[in-house]
Amino acid sequence: MIPQSFIQDLLNRVDIVDVVGRYVPLKKGGANFMGLCPFHNEKSPSFTVSPTKQFYHCFGCGAHGTAIGFLIEYSGMGFVEAVKDLAQGVGMIVPESEDRLPPAQRAEQQAKSMALSEAMTRACDYYRQQLRQADRAKQYLIGRGLTGEIAARFGLGYAPDGWDNLRAMFPEYEAEALVESGLVIDRSEEEDGNRNGRKRYDRFRDRVMFPIRNTKGQVIGFGGRVLDSGEPKYLNSPETPLFQKGSELYGLFEARQAIREAGYALVTEGYMDVVALAQLGFPHAVATLGTACTPIHVQKLLRQTDQVVFSFDGDAAGRRAARRALEACLPHAGDNKVIRFLFLPSEHDPDSYIRELGADAFEKQVQDAMPLSQFLLNVAIGDNDLRTPEGRARTQFDAKPLLQALPPSALRLQIVRGLAQLTESTPAEIETLFELAQPVAKARVAPPRAKRTAPVGLERQIMRLLVAHPALASELDQAALDALLNPVSEHAEMLAQLVMMARELGTHAVFATLAETLRSSGPDFEPLIAEIAAEPETDADAARLELAGAIRQSRMKALRDELEQLVAGGLADSTAQARYRELSMQQEQLRREAQAEMARRD
Ligand code: UTP
Ligand code: MN
Repeated sequence: MIPQSFIQDLLNRVDIVDVVGRYVPLKKGGANFMGLCPFHNEKSPSFTVSPTKQFYHCFGCGAHGTAIGFLIEYSGMGFVEAVKDLAQGVGMIVPESEDRLPPAQRAEQQAKSMALSEAMTRACDYYRQQLRQADRAKQYLIGRGLTGEIAARFGLGYAPDGWDNLRAMFPEYEAEALVESGLVIDRSEEEDGNRNGRKRYDRFRDRVMFPIRNTKGQVIGFGGRVLDSGEPKYLNSPETPLFQKGSELYGLFEARQAIREAGYALVTEGYMDVVALAQLGFPHAVATLGTACTPIHVQKLLRQTDQVVFSFDGDAAGRRAARRALEACLPHAGDNKVIRFLFLPSEHDPDSYIRELGADAFEKQVQDAMPLSQFLLNVAIGDNDLRTPEGRARTQFDAKPLLQALPPSALRLQIVRGLAQLTESTPAEIETLFELAQPVAKARVAPPRAKRTAPVGLERQIMRLLVAHPALASELDQAALDALLNPVSEHAEMLAQLVMMARELGTHAVFATLAETLRSSGPDFEPLIAEIAAEPETDADAARLELAGAIRQSRMKALRDELEQLVAGGLADSTAQARYRELSMQQEQLRREAQAEMARRD
C-alpha cells in the first residue's frame, strides 16, 4: 500500500495539464484546457483539463479523473505503476512497504533503470539507422511483404554482422551496465568458441531487429530474426529489470489506440504476425513473446478493452497454447468481458493466412471465433465419450479445475448449466460436487446488495461541498462532527464515511486527492465526483459558509424530528421531559447562531 499522504504530495506536485498534454494535444480555453477526448471518437473537443481542480473531464463520454486516473485509463498502467511513473517525473521516490530499501539504495536502483532504458533507446536508434543502409535486410523485409511505412511505425532495425559493432555507439562498451541490458554477452571462462579472443561481444548480429516497447513507449527489449534459416530463428533480449516476458506484450504500445477503436484486442504468437496484421488492416494486434500467455498478460489487455480474441494455429501446438491461454484467462473472465479463441487452419499463422487469403477472410475468422465458455467445455470433453456414465464423469472431473478458477459470476453459472446438460446432472449438483466458492446456482435468495439510492437534499448538498473542498472537513467543530458522524440513514452513513476520509487527508486536502481516495473505496461517490469535475470551480470561502448553513439546517431538522417524537410519545416520564428541555435549548441556540450569521452577512 502506498500511503495516502504520498498520493496527496504527488498530486500536489505534478501538473495534470503536463501529464495529459504529453499524450493529448491541448489548447487553452478559458480557465481550462481543451482537446479531443482520447477515450471516445470525436471531431470537436469536449475533453477538458482543469489546472485548478487538477482533474480532467469529458463532456462527451463522461470520462473523468486525476493525473493518476488518466495514466491508468490511457496507457493501461496499474495504480502503483501510474503512481511510480508520475513520481519519477517529479523526482519523488515512492515509499513501498514490501521493499524496505533505504532511500539512497532506491535512488541508486532508479538511476540504474534509467541507464538501462537509455542504453536500449540508443541501441534502437542505431539499429534503425543501420537498416537504411542494409540492402540485404531491406530486401528480406520487402520479400515478406512489408512496406517502409510499417517498418518505421514499429521501429524495425538491423543489427549488422560483426562482433562488436555497438562499441561505436557505446564508448563505455566495457561497462557492467551494458551486460545487464542484454545488448552484449560476456564470454564465460570455460567457453572458448571462436570469438577472436574477445571477452565481450554483441548479442545481436546480422539480424532484423524488432524493438519491444512498454506501455509508455520506452524500448525495453529486442527480438532479432535471422535473415536466412539459421538458428535460433528469433533471438530475444534476456529478462532484465526492465523487461519481463511474462508481463510484456509485443506491439501493445503501437496498438493501444487501434484497440480502443476496434473494440477488441487480437492476440497472436509472433512478431511478424503483429506487423503483417497492422499493415493489412488489423492494427489492434499484439503478441506474446515466445512464452505462454500469462494471467498478467490477460489483465493488461483487459485494462485496455473488454474484448480479447486469441488467434492460434489449428495444429496440436496451437491447441496446447490455446489451452494455456484459456487457463490464464479464467481468473479474469467476468460478465462484462468477452474472450474468444480463433483457430486457423493448421498450416497457417495469422501472417501467412492474411497474406494468402486476404483481410476479409481473416475478418470472418475473427467473427466466428469460439467464445471462452464453448472452448472451456470443449477442453473438458476432450476425447471423453458422453454416451457413457464414465465419459460424463470424466468430463466433469476434467472441468473441475477450470470451473474452480473462474470467479463466481453469471458466466460461470452459464458454463455450469452447459456442463450439467452435457453430463446429465443439475447445476446445483455440479456446484456442490466441485465445491465452487460462492455457488451461483444455489444462492437463490441472496440478491446482490442493492445499489445505494442517490442521496438527496441537505445530505447531498453537504457531501458535494465536502468533496469539492475536503479541507473544510478538518475545520468542523465538535457539534458539527456529532451531527455528521452519527449515521441514522444509509446516506448518513455515506456522509460519515466521507467526513472521515476527508479529515484523514488533513487541512491541505484537495478535490483531486479525495477523489482518488474515494474511488479506491468503491463506486458510491462516482456520480458526485463526475458532477463536480464538470462544473466551474467554486470559491472555498463561499463553500465554507454554505457548509456551515447546511450543517446547521440538518441539525435543526434532527432536533425537530426528535422533539416531535417526544411530543408524540406524550412526554410521560421525567427523562423524556428533561430531554425535551435540553433539545429546546439547543434549538434556541442554533436559531441564535443562524441570526448572528445573517447579521454578519448583511
Ligand atoms: P514462430 O516459429 O511461429 O515464428 O514463432 P513466426 O512468428 O511465424 O516468425 P516468422 O514468420 O517465421 O518470421 C512464434 C514466436 O515465438 C518466438 C518469437 O516470439 C516468435 O515470434 N520464437 C520463435 C522465439 O522466441 N525464438 C525462436 O527461435 C522462435
Ligand atoms: Mn510466421
